[in-house]
Amino acid sequence: MIAVFGATGTTGSGVVKAMAAQRKPVRAVVRKAAQAAAATQLGAGVDVVAAELDDAAALRAALDGVSHVYCGLGRAANLAELEQHVVDAARAAGVAHYVKSSGVSVGVDRPSVIQKVHGQLEDYVRANLPGKHTILGCNFFMQNFFGVAGAIKSGVLPMPTGEARAGLVDAADIVRCAASVLAGAPGQHLGKRYQITGPAALSHGDAAATFTRVLGRPVQFVNVPEADFVAGCVQAGLPRWFAEVLADVYVRFFGAGDAATVSDDVRLVTGQAPRALEAWVRDNAQAFA
Ligand SMILES: NC(=O)c1ccc[n+]([C@@H]2O[C@H](COP(=O)([O-])OP(=O)(O)OC[C@H]3O[C@@H](n4cnc5c(N)ncnc54)[C@H](OP(=O)(O)O)[C@@H]3O)[C@@H](O)[C@H]2O)c1
Repeated sequence: MIAVFGATGTTGSGVVKAMAAQRKPVRAVVRKAAQAAAATQLGAGVDVVAAELDDAAALRAALDGVSHVYCGLGRAANLAELEQHVVDAARAAGVAHYVKSSGVSVGVDRPSVIQKVHGQLEDYVRANLPGKHTILGCNFFMQNFFGVAGAIKSGVLPMPTGEARAGLVDAADIVRCAASVLAGAPGQHLGKRYQITGPAALSHGDAAATFTRVLGRPVQFVNVPEADFVAGCVQAGLPRWFAEVLADVYVRFFGAGDAATVSDDVRLVTGQAPRALEAWVRDNAQAFA
């Protein structure tokens, strides 16, 4: 049985669906409040169980009979604490393989908060599940452009990234990697860390040029100050803490050059090259039209 945490999220939901499509026994672990909607969203063949992540007894029950875990948790102010509870429960349950979704260049010495949090969590996973884990160090998701679809529709891409580049990756490629890792031969991926990136390091100016080409109308990159970006996100309805985390990523993670990493690991893990931004925009053009 494979248990998925963050099963309502971008990669977690994809991993659940991929496992169900392969007729693998899969359990989506979600918040109680999300259980009914998740059962509908994830479809038949998925065991959707509720567990709050600070409830050790509920986590123990959720991991009963589980051999593999995929953890794609995110968007939580207390992510470090929440994911440590999951690691503790996985260790107590004796799971054979824990697959953690992380960032591409993380560490407690890196400049942005999210790099430090994932760096700390990777250390925690390595210390508590030695030789029983695989870490997927994911670069910036192409799906993040959905969050600025309104601006792109009006012809601008306002980001506080300057000329900084990122090896943008399609979340579907992360899901394919996770599925390959979970289905791998025993031991094949244990103790390994992969850099999951797209095929090219692009600036947001390059991305705007790609949207321009594919949509057939001008989309212009505008380099906005960090404070204006945060204010725009809050105005669009994001909680301030999350708007600040996002801005921190764009200014400090991108600014340090840490997002510019490009690797061949998607091909190595799945046997297939990662999707380029141009193809992704073409496939999702209606969301930006
Ligand atoms: N987006 C990127 O470009 C990017 C790049 C590299 C790494 N990452 C990392 O990848 C991870 C996932 O990111 P994402 O964009 O896929 O996130 P996402 O789509 O927002 O999904 C986050 C998931 O975490 C769950 N979650 C949050 N707080 C929870 C709580 N208290 N209890 C139970 N579940 C909770 C959410 O459940 P609900 O639906 O119930 O809220 C959701 O299923 C993050 O750790 C992020 O740092 C993201």
